[in-house]
Parts: sequence; C-alpha cells; structure tokens
Amino acid sequence: MSTNQRFQWDHMTTGVCYYPEHWPQKQWASDLDRMLAAGITVVRSAEFSWVLLEPSEGVFSFDLFDAFLDLCAQKGMQVILGTPTATPPAWLTEKYPEVLNCDITGTPYRHGGRRHYTYNAPVYQKLCSRIVEEMGKRWGQHPAVIGWQIDNEINCETDVFYSEADHAAFRAFLQEKYGTLDALNAAWGTAFWSECYTDWAQLHCPRPVLNGGYNPSLLLDYTRFISVSARRFCKMQADILRKYVKPGDFITTNGMFGHLDNHQMAEESLDVYTYDSYPNMGLGLDRHPKTDTDLNDRKWTRNLIETRSVCPHFGIMEQQSGANGWINRMEASAPRPGQLTLWAMQSVAQGADFISFFRWRTCTFGTEIYWHGILDYDGRDNRKLAEVKDFCRKFRSLQPVCGARNVAAFALLKDYDNQWDMDADAWHRRVGEFSDREIFIASELTHTPYDAVYLRDNTTLEDLKPYPVAFYPHPVIMDGHKMELLNAYVAQGGTLIVGCRSGYKDPTGKCVTIPQPGLLQGLTGTDVQDFTFTSPAEEDSYALWEAGEKLEMPIFNDILTPLPGTKVLARYGASYYAGEAALTERPFGKGRTLHLGSAFSRDTVRQLLAYTGVLEPFQNIIDAPEGVEVVLREKDGQHFLFVLNFQQTAETITLKRPAELLYTGEEAEGAITLPPFGTAVYAL
Ligand code: GAL
Repeated sequence: MSTNQRFQWDHMTTGVCYYPEHWPQKQWASDLDRMLAAGITVVRSAEFSWVLLEPSEGVFSFDLFDAFLDLCAQKGMQVILGTPTATPPAWLTEKYPEVLNCDITGTPYRHGGRRHYTYNAPVYQKLCSRIVEEMGKRWGQHPAVIGWQIDNEINCETDVFYSEADHAAFRAFLQEKYGTLDALNAAWGTAFWSECYTDWAQLHCPRPVLNGGYNPSLLLDYTRFISVSARRFCKMQADILRKYVKPGDFITTNGMFGHLDNHQMAEESLDVYTYDSYPNMGLGLDRHPKTDTDLNDRKWTRNLIETRSVCPHFGIMEQQSGANGWINRMEASAPRPGQLTLWAMQSVAQGADFISFFRWRTCTFGTEIYWHGILDYDGRDNRKLAEVKDFCRKFRSLQPVCGARNVAAFALLKDYDNQWDMDADAWHRRVGEFSDREIFIASELTHTPYDAVYLRDNTTLEDLKPYPVAFYPHPVIMDGHKMELLNAYVAQGGTLIVGCRSGYKDPTGKCVTIPQPGLLQGLTGTDVQDFTFTSPAEEDSYALWEAGEKLEMPIFNDILTPLPGTKVLARYGASYYAGEAALTERPFGKGRTLHLGSAFSRDTVRQLLAYTGVLEPFQNIIDAPEGVEVVLREKDGQHFLFVLNFQQTAETITLKRPAELLYTGEEAEGAITLPPFGTAVYAL
C-alpha cells in the first residue's frame, strides 16, 4: 500500500448520500429498506448539519443523528459521517464575522451559501475543533459508523482567500519562509516597479491591482500558502478524529480542487481518498449531442487518473445519478439509460472500489432542487433506481477486481509548482493546459493508458522505474531535486519527453539566466537560442521527420540547436526557422531524452508514443473503436479488461482471446456488440 492508502475496501461497496434532516423521520426506515433492497450498504450523511448539532453556541443536540444512526445499526446499514464545517451556522458568522472569507476587495461572503469561511481565523479553528471533537466523542464508537469525511470538498466554490485573517497568516507564512525582508525582496524580484517591501506590515494577500499586473513570485507563494492553510485545517480535524475512530474505520475527504497539494494532504491526514464524479458536467446542455473534438463526459477519466495518483484504490463519495444543476446553474441532461452505469464503471475502471451515489432523493428545497438524485421529488421507483440496482449486481460481480492495479503504458509527470505557476502565468497556461488535455485525448483514442505521477519531495526513482516512457510536457520551473530524479530515471533506461518552454524558471518563479532549457540542458542536449508563439498570420507550424511524415508543432516553438551528440529527429517546415531542429533525441546512460520544440497535439503524441514503442499496448487482446474506452487492471497475475462504450450508438469490439464476462460468468470471444453506453468487464 502507498503511504496515502492506509485503508482499502476489501469488497466492492455501493453507498448513497442521504440527509435525514431533509425528510420526515417516519420515512427513514422505508428509505433505508429500499436502499438495502437495491444493494446499497453505506450511507454518507451529516456534512452540512452544523446548526442541527449545535443550534446555539456551545449547546449541542445529537438526538436526530442518534436516532438515525441507531436505526442504521438496527438495519445493518453502515454510515460515513461528515464533519459539518463547510456550512457554519448563522449564529456563528453573525457573532464572529471575522471567520468569513472575502472577495479580493475585502467584501465578506455572507451566510446562505457554503464554504464562505477562512481556514485561518483562530476563532473558526476553535469552533470547528469543538464540533468535530463532540461528534468524534459521540459517534466514534457507534456500531453503524465506518468512516469519517472531513469538511466537504476542501477548496471547492473558491480557492482564494482574502479575509484579514488570511492577510495576517500570509505574512506569518512569508516571515517563516524568508526570515528577512531582504531575502523576500530578492526572491520576488521587487526591484521591478518599485515593489520593494520595507516592513512586514506592507505584505498582503493579493489585493486589486490595475490590469492584474501582479508579481508572479508573490502569486506563486500565495498559492503555496493557500495549500498549506487548507492542509492545516484538514489535519486539525483529522488529529481530533483519530482519538475517537474505531480500529478499521477510516478518515477521508472528498473532491479534488485547486491550490491544494492533495497528495500531501492525503499523506498527512487521510487513510483513503475519495472523489466526487459528475461526468455530465463535461457535456453541457448546449453541447449535446457529443462532438468529435472533445471527449465530453469521457474526459472525466482524466480527473479519475489524477485521483488515482493520490490514492491507487480510492472511493467515489458522490457519483452522478441524475441531471445536475442549481437554481442559478444549468449543467446538463439526465443520464440516458445505461449512462448512470457507464459513469460509475468509468470510476471503477480507474481504481474506485467504493461508489456512493449522490443522492438518494432530489432535495425539494434549497439551491440544489435541480441536482437530481436517484429518486425524484415524489420518491417513487423509477428507471434510475432500477439501473442502480442493476449496477450493484454488476459491481458485486467485480469482486475479483477489488484492489487490482491499473496497467499503464507511460507516465505523465506533474508537480504542484508548475501547476500553480500555470494558474498565475498565462503564457505557461496556454501550452500547459493544451498539452495536458491533448496527451489525455491521445491516450484515450489510442487505448494507451497512462498514470499521472507527481514529482514531490519524497518521490524516488522507484516511483518512476515502472514506466518505460515519461512525458513531462512543460516543466517551466525546474529544481535540483527534480533534476536528480530525472537524471536517474533516464540513466536507468527511461525515455523522457519534454516540450517547449522547459526549465526557464527557478522555484521562486523568476526566469533563469543560463541558456534554455536551463537545468534540463544536460539531459536534452539542446540549446534554445530563439523561441516564439506560432504566428496566426502564418501557416500552421509543423515539422518533418526524416522519413518525411508531418509532425504538428502547435502553439509555441522553441528553435532547437542540437549540442554535439544530440540527434535531430525532425526539422521545422514553416516560418523563418524552417529547416531548424524541432524534435531531438539525446542518449544518456541506458535511456534517452526527446525534446519537442512545441506543445503536444494529440497527433504529435500519437507519433511519439509510436516512436517510443508504447502505442496501443493491448493490441493482442482487443480491437476497439476510438469511441470505446479500454482499461486494463491486474491482480496476482490475473487481468481484467474494462470496455466502456461512451457512444450513443452500438459499437463493436473484437476480443482476441477467450475471456469471462464477469457480470454473468459467460464465456466471450471474437466480435461483440456493446449497446449504446454499454459496459463490459472481462477476466482474461
Ligand atoms: C458537490 C457537493 C455536494 C453537492 C453537489 C451538487 O460538489 O459536494 O454537496 O452540493 O456538488 O452541487
């Protein structure tokens, strides 16, 4: 088990989100009976219930949840309890307005929404600690409880904070990081525009500046600060809960949001990580039906791959079961017959052993009256419940897959510094987001799966060794530790592929004065003496491989000068740099580094996967059209093949060896037609 996986489900488990406070108590028993009859064995509750639990300051009321938990225990239903800190009661924010997060102008967000608090207000930390402590004490040993969810979707709704408490905490963070103002001024390059700070009191979280002309190093440190604040808040709660949870129960949180080192949060506070998956947010009402250029709901797979990088056997705390929307947000259409199962199996394929649907019945009040659940307002049996029942049966049949690892053909390397630099720097973002998306799309369409691997302080060569090929598309910020890892990876036989704009910043966010690609030059064996965005006034940029095949070179072009010992694989075909090196290869130890002078289009990625010999690794097992997702998992030498038809038409695949369809136990081989949105999981 990785350090981020201290708890693992030992069987495929289905849950549902249920809020007893939304329904008459006399309805609870029949709701629970109907869930159990459908195959649902876990409910997740309580994460927005603070005012019920503490109706006024320091006065606690546990009756409602006592009754609910006792009923669950009696019926054999298991419960995940959420700490309610995402929705402070009105009494709290009226009495302590300093707990409110503010917009960038300093105007507070008021009661009525959620997540309108700051992690850094001492009084909020105190009040949160108390309610968490009370819940832990009360229900930590309750027989129905199996796990705890901290807060709800940390950094969702907003991932920027501008209250007075944040300004003060940011100042303290900077003081601890830099020690002296001289060090801070040097790190941020405050010689520019007379930005120099001469007193700590002059330092603030970003405040409105004209034309958004912020200091990029300040923004980078601010984002690091938000991540630290969010992690501290999560850990504060986890440390309290640890005192009360029963052996075998778990602590988790849900979702995956920005400005947060989710890996470190999981490592220091959680036993298992869970994600909230709403794939039809990828569709959008006005973009239905699907387009060819965008993977629509299928692109949620990318989020699931990211989730797996935090925790290989994760759970889904909220799995879409109906159309979603708020009163002020139209999101998308209802799942078509089959789609609810397809989306749940999409999660399972990528590593989820626990699927909890959001939610049992659509709420009849509040802003989420259009965030539809399994049942509609009237609560009658419907096609979605029938499909959930069918899903539960299929999910149970996947028991042999529980805990199986995902098989990946290559690694996509990432790191938080570059992620956060991209958030602040439009030049970086333009290539970074494009390449990230296109690498994913190429991987999906060619059935060449990858793992996302985050380079962190505790990443070692062992984490990289399993991958023959690693893309690190635009490592703009480079540092010594990452270089050591990359050197070791290539030396032992890995193929590293980097793109344009690599290595031109240091960890402060300042540009380096050594030739580009900076510290990476020892691996790439290239010198970038000239570079430019591609010009919209010219033909699309491309290069030609030696054999004459065309290679797309989109968005930005580094014009590469190969150093002695570096081979040129392709040369630019257009613009004033036609004939110059566009793609190079440099051997090092037992491996090599490819340097592509541009961003990565899906076609370029396909060619690079072919060149490096990892394209379409499952060719001897299956033939599948582009519109069908193919995922392979492995446990104890046995392989499990997930085949997911994201199309609204029937699609045919060919199984090239005999297999067992786990849903039914039937033997399968040869041409098989999957219905629209159909799924299948085969044991090979
Ligand atoms: C999630 C959240 C749920 C629910 C759902 C629909 O982000 O965790 O509580 O609000 O979205 O908006």
